[in-house]
Amino acid sequence: ACYKAAELCRALVKEGATVQVVMTEAAAQFVTPVTMQALSNQPVYVSQWDPREPNNMAHINLTRHAHAMLVAPASADFMAKLLHGRADDLLSLMCLARPVDTVPLLLAPAMNKEMWAHPATQRNMAQLRQDGAKVLGVGQGDQACGEVGDGRMLEADELRHSLEAFFAPKVLQGRRVLVNAGPTYEAIDPVRGITNRSSGKMGFAIARAAADAGAMVTLVAGPVALPTPHGVQRIDVISAQHMHAAVLAQAAHADVFVAAAAVADWRVDLAASQKIKKEAGAAPPALRFLENPDILAEVAATARALSGALFCVGFAAESENLLAHAQAKRARKNVPLLVGNIDPDTFGQDDNALLLVDEHGYRELPRASKADLARQLIHDLATRLAPKTP
Ligand code: C5P
Repeated sequence: ACYKAAELCRALVKEGATVQVVMTEAAAQFVTPVTMQALSNQPVYVSQWDPREPNNMAHINLTRHAHAMLVAPASADFMAKLLHGRADDLLSLMCLARPVDTVPLLLAPAMNKEMWAHPATQRNMAQLRQDGAKVLGVGQGDQACGEVGDGRMLEADELRHSLEAFFAPKVLQGRRVLVNAGPTYEAIDPVRGITNRSSGKMGFAIARAAADAGAMVTLVAGPVALPTPHGVQRIDVISAQHMHAAVLAQAAHADVFVAAAAVADWRVDLAASQKIKKEAGAAPPALRFLENPDILAEVAATARALSGALFCVGFAAESENLLAHAQAKRARKNVPLLVGNIDPDTFGQDDNALLLVDEHGYRELPRASKADLARQLIHDLATRLAPKTP
């Protein structure tokens, strides 16, 4: 966990945060304050008697301007102490002295699996939640002690995501969002198939941004090598027909459908059940194609979408004339919003530029990371939804 804390500090600084590191004496046994000072580019505090503070009140001075406090790692002992409001070192003193209404407290537990499972720890965490702390989850796997189980601190990246999600405005609170993402794979025989270069990154970023905005998100994913965003329910599919069935079943309960998947237009008619063998001198096999269902157009034509209860968003990857193609596609698919992008510039990349096309015109979202664009898109989307009926 101490390695991860150092990595997290670096990642947060890289994202533009000002990180003030405060360490307990126990923490300083694992990582030196010098390391954390170098990573955060700020002096590190360990003692409540730090003479660098003119009034000698580091616990007050350091907590008045923070946007949040994150204790990572939060040991079982430290949480037990917090629970009682004890304040016998600088960090616990700061947790108690912080203005609770403006400085939220997040805890990233890290401990051995038995300590994690112990009723005292679980009870303490429940109480800390009641007292207003946000207790983050833990990972599962190899522990420093050699045992295997729950209680590993979340990875630095997961913690950074948790913080971002914590700060994300909850503009989709209570909404059910369905996203499809990635390519589909259309089998020719058991070992060969036809697919496309979609990486799924944009769709996964949208699923994550929607979850961060408070939505309940289901992500129907074609074959991609991407981790499931935290808090998102994922359904893996292979072919367009699988995706079609999964999306239609889920769309019946959704408030929003974002069709970010690059669904194959055609599938091979009568895929071979055994591997097609190459025979010397024989002609290559001829493939016949059938058209796949248009998932988006079909969902957009359902009663739920027509009544306005389901808001459908289409995607268009074009190689030229983006605006004209996107407008035509919006009309053809009969969706209120169509998101266009230039495809040689987007597949597999971590950044993108989007064009939002609706009945009134268009708006450009200039090149940015897909994570950033996803957040902007979710924000835009939230403004388009009818107010939620209680
Ligand atoms: O017609 P085109 O494939 O360019 O349209 C792209 C949009 O339509 C995307 O939102 C994509 O997810 C959706 N689509 C679909 N089913 C298909 C083909 C495309 O849902 N068979």
